[in-house]
Amino acid sequence: MNHQRPQIVHVALGSNEGDRDAHLQRAVDRLAQVPGVQVRRVSSVRETAFVGDGPAQGPYRNAVVELACSLPPHALFACCKQIEAEAGRQLPAPRNHPRPLDIDIVFFGDDVVDTRDLVIPHLRWHERDFVRQPLVELGVDVAAKRRWSGPEVIEAPEAMSARSLQWRTGGCVIGIVPTMGSLHAGHRRLMEIARAECDRVIATIFVNPLQFGPKEDFTAYPRDLAGDLAVCRQAGVDAVFAPSVAQMYEPAFCSHVAVGAAAEGLEGAVRPGHFAGVATVVARLFAIAQPTRGYFGEKDAQQLAVIRRMTRDLGFPIRIVPCATVREPDGLAMSSRNAYLGAADRAASTVLARALRSAREAFRRGERDRDRLLQRARTIIANEPRAGLDYLELRSEEDLAELPPGPIASGRMLVAARFIDGVRPVRLLDNLSLDGADEA
Ligand code: PAJ
Repeated sequence: MNHQRPQIVHVALGSNEGDRDAHLQRAVDRLAQVPGVQVRRVSSVRETAFVGDGPAQGPYRNAVVELACSLPPHALFACCKQIEAEAGRQLPAPRNHPRPLDIDIVFFGDDVVDTRDLVIPHLRWHERDFVRQPLVELGVDVAAKRRWSGPEVIEAPEAMSARSLQWRTGGCVIGIVPTMGSLHAGHRRLMEIARAECDRVIATIFVNPLQFGPKEDFTAYPRDLAGDLAVCRQAGVDAVFAPSVAQMYEPAFCSHVAVGAAAEGLEGAVRPGHFAGVATVVARLFAIAQPTRGYFGEKDAQQLAVIRRMTRDLGFPIRIVPCATVREPDGLAMSSRNAYLGAADRAASTVLARALRSAREAFRRGERDRDRLLQRARTIIANEPRAGLDYLELRSEEDLAELPPGPIASGRMLVAARFIDGVRPVRLLDNLSLDGADEA
């Protein structure tokens, strides 16, 4: 970018501590002293009550300043931080605490900046009257300015890679939340955890044909992109990667990731080829999006184990973050497939969580024998005639390896069962750590 020619820049000033108008005036004076910066106009000052979380605090005085600036955006940003510090602002500033001076760069000509510490246009300028009204007063055509209107939707893998590279170059930690869409509160929780831990969050929505068996519900899998985007938007996701099958797998595509022991038994025994399909698509998503951290639900405990193994074996420099299962109030683990349960099966479906919790209770009271713990859960499920048990197993916590009979020190109990009175048969999965590492 060439910044020889000065750009028209708008910065928003705010103060709610000390002599507020004096802080604003001093900020204008200091900006005018910066070489390469000329103050063109200053809006009137207005008073705004504090809104948002944070400690109770006094109202703000706000104004917007129009500059002509021949510095690059980050150089101006550094000057703004310096002027805030001179006003007595603590840096790094605690969020939503009173402050003597806040300077935000709202627009920098038509430049777009998207780095860890600086985003221009400012993300939420249009939601703030105390920014929008002074801009209008200064004659800015606010309707023509870029504003955040929800996550960017990216379909082409090349475009996803390019955006990710741009973010990494800007110093961002990137979190990825792979999903097959039809998003519910469980998915949303993953996104919120990623949002809290990362600078940029990518959610992927892709119903992956490779992981469905010939008799499984690939074509019938629920799809609702508009609803999914609303969930991603609420969770503060930055980009939604939603490629078509043709974009993910070109016609000559023929490379697959084969995962060994971790993919055998449990779901692997019931759904041959399923985990190869999961590992292949996740490896491809990792390669395309190059995230720093990947968020996966404990709800699918074997999938999590397979992805951990695959990430380590193939050497992806990505931290896999497990996220606790989100449940309905009655204990049923949330799943896109729950919607297919008939009313009677929906009522019966709580048996899985009840069985697992009962085993955990027994473990907490001192029962350590593997088979007695399993028997306890099995009896509860056997008492529910609507549930057809596929498997119930107790496996090691770290990698779901089989545990020998006899006493156990810790473990995770996993269950799968079929319910058949609804629109179509539904298989439900659940699992629980017996030493209570996950709440529930
Ligand atoms: P999907 O079933 O859409 O799940 C996406 C992610 O959400 C997975 O990590 C899953 O474990 C997590 N999740 C689902 N229900 C949850 C719940 N109730 N609580 C917490 N997390 C939950 O799993 C897949 O898609 C696919 O196999 C995928 C990994 C995207 C590969 O195609």
